[in-house]
Amino acid sequence: MTSFRDRYGRWALVAGASEGLGASFAECLAEQGLDLVLIARRESLLDDLADRLRERYGVEVRPLAMDLASPDLAGALAGVTSDLDLGVLVYNAAFVPVGRFVDADADALERAVDVNVRAPVVMLHTLLPGLERRGRGAVILMSSLAGLQGTARVAAYAATKAFNTVLGEGLWQELREQGIDVVACCAGAIPTPGDKRSGKGRVPGMLDPDAVARRTLDALGKGPRFVPGWVNRLFAVLLTRLLPRKAAIRLMAGNTGDRRNPRCRCRSRPRRSQRASWSRPRRSRRAPWGRPRRSRRGRPPQRGRGLKRHSWRRQRRMRRRTR
Ligand SMILES: NC(=O)c1ccc[n+]([C@@H]2O[C@H](COP(=O)([O-])OP(=O)(O)OC[C@H]3O[C@@H](n4cnc5c(N)ncnc54)[C@H](OP(=O)(O)O)[C@@H]3O)[C@@H](O)[C@H]2O)c1
Repeated sequence: MTSFRDRYGRWALVAGASEGLGASFAECLAEQGLDLVLIARRESLLDDLADRLRERYGVEVRPLAMDLASPDLAGALAGVTSDLDLGVLVYNAAFVPVGRFVDADADALERAVDVNVRAPVVMLHTLLPGLERRGRGAVILMSSLAGLQGTARVAAYAATKAFNTVLGEGLWQELREQGIDVVACCAGAIPTPGDKRSGKGRVPGMLDPDAVARRTLDALGKGPRFVPGWVNRLFAVLLTRLLPRKAAIRLMAGNTGDRRNPRCRCRSRPRRSQRASWSRPRRSRRAPWGRPRRSRRGRPPQRGRGLKRHSWRRQRRMRRRTR
């Protein structure tokens, strides 16, 4: 069997390599005997990783501490890779502004576009001609299940991930005749430091970063899009083929903590403790959710002022329309 190095070239570049999934990619590639260019902002983390990989696998590692959002990205990449037989490109870095789009800082949204969209385009446009000249190579673009449809509370991030998936698919077709394998990896949740900082807990289908990196490298040459883990693959089929678009968007919104428009309180199911207080079967034996009630006492408690509240009739109509 041809080794990874013979198949693609001596050097690999990982953008976003200081920790989490990027560090796992770096380790898997070093294990395959590839020399590495590692890019991230935190120099000390990069240096520690570089030392570890040199010691453990005997590979050459060039750490490059820089911000991928910088306007001079193309020049910096060309400078550091000009003398290398670069075969594998991994774009892993991402910036995730979490929260409602209208409340987000404009700078944060622009940064998400710079790091998640502009930088991979610049990187690929700068480095792919070299791979094409050599007639071999591999590209991995990290994307996400969040990008398979719109996702509330990470709307801009999800849109940038959709961009990466579609970019990867287009390049897969364009470059396969040139001997370059491209894959967009639509990962589910991965317990990385970045993910932990955003405060998410464990969710079904979570895979550790090493498993995601290894499986994604194995998926090179097998198709344009890869979803690691069978739970995530089932989820992706559900989102993209089985559910109507509205339901898929709502399901993902549930995962990111936005089940409903916060300005409209009527569609949320009250907590069990609240339900007990207002669905007492005194007036009607069965008090199903949504049944209009006459007395104030029977209504769910108000949780704050100034929030929009639809009439019970309107709520019923909305429920029917979205069924
Ligand atoms: N974690 C998940 O649950 C999950 C799920 C689906 C998809 N993904 C995708 O998987 C990829 C990796 O996720 P992750 O959780 O490992 O991310 P992470 O923990 O936030 O790590 C991202 C890496 O990118 C680097 N980076 C971020 N911004 C950068 C910038 N402006 N310039 C240079 N380097 C930068 C970070 O290093 P520095 O901070 O040192 O710069 C870090 O090494 C992302 O593309 C993400 O969209 C993740």
